[in-house]
This record gives sequence, structure tokens and C-alpha cells, in this order.
Amino acid sequence: MVKVLFVCLGNICRSPTAEAVFRSLVSYQRMDASIEIDSAGTHAYHLGEPPDARASSAAARRGLDLTGLRARQATAEDFRTFDYILCMDRENQYHLQQLAPPEFTHKLRLFMEFATAADDLEVPDPYFGGPKGFERVLDMLEDAAQGLLQHIRTDHSV
Ligand code: 4NP
Repeated sequence: MVKVLFVCLGNICRSPTAEAVFRSLVSYQRMDASIEIDSAGTHAYHLGEPPDARASSAAARRGLDLTGLRARQATAEDFRTFDYILCMDRENQYHLQQLAPPEFTHKLRLFMEFATAADDLEVPDPYFGGPKGFERVLDMLEDAAQGLLQHIRTDHSV
């Protein structure tokens, strides 16, 4: 079982969307039994809350269901549990570096490192912007999700 954790700041916009995008792709490829997926935030501002309504409706327009997801904060224990801890931006990565047990810092990557179409390494925070920001987030996440699945297939023979 390969375990993947997506991380953003609040765990209500980017990382729950990444979780749903990747889960949908994994499910489409019938690989649910081989890959476990979760998401978390670096900050506790929105603990226990469902995803932002704007993120949920943008995702729903692409057939992705975010209902049932609830925000949680990333923990040091996550570094033991997960094989990949994939951050949306460098600020998230910086915060997680502070939290990571030193032997597990290699698990920490920017999710966009796996993208093939987009050049940007950071998924811009859509929280304080308009609806276009959420569409851009989805486009970027769909790109990186394809690359991540390809990478996992090659590296883990699943
Ligand atoms: P996310 O977006 O990190 O993609 O979930 C944000 C959500 C909330 C806040 C910032 C970003 N906030 O400042 O409350």
C-alpha cells in the first residue's frame, strides 16, 4: 500500500481538492486497493470544517465529490504513516519541515514537481481570490495527479 498525504494551509481549498482529484484518478485506474489518500493543513484555523463552498462547487462541476471531507491539521505522526507528503506551496513545505522528524524529511515534496504541463511549482492559494482561482487550482492539480500516478506506478510497481 502506497500512502499519499496532500497538504495546504487550511485544508479547506487546495489539499481536499487534490485528495478528490487524485482519488478519482486512482479509482478510474482501479488502483484503490493499492493507494491510500488523505489531506491535512499546516494551520488549525478550520479544524473539523468541510471544504470551502467555492472549492466544493468548482470540484462538483468536474464530477468530484468533496462532501464528507473535514479539515484536520498535519502531525509529526503523519511522517511515519505516509510515503509521500505533498505540499501545495513552499510556505506549506517550510512549516512541515519544522514538524518533520529528521529521518523523514525526504518524504516532503511539492506536489507540482509531478506536473508535466504546468511550469509553476506552487499551487496558488485561491482563498482570498475569485472563482477563476479555483478553476486554475483544479487544472494544476489534475496535471500533477497524472504525473504522480505515473511516478508511483514506476517506483512501486503497483
Ligand atoms: P487552503 O486555502 O490552504 O488551500 O485550504 C486557505 C484556507 C484558509 C485560509 C488560507 C488559505 N485562511 O487564512 O483561513
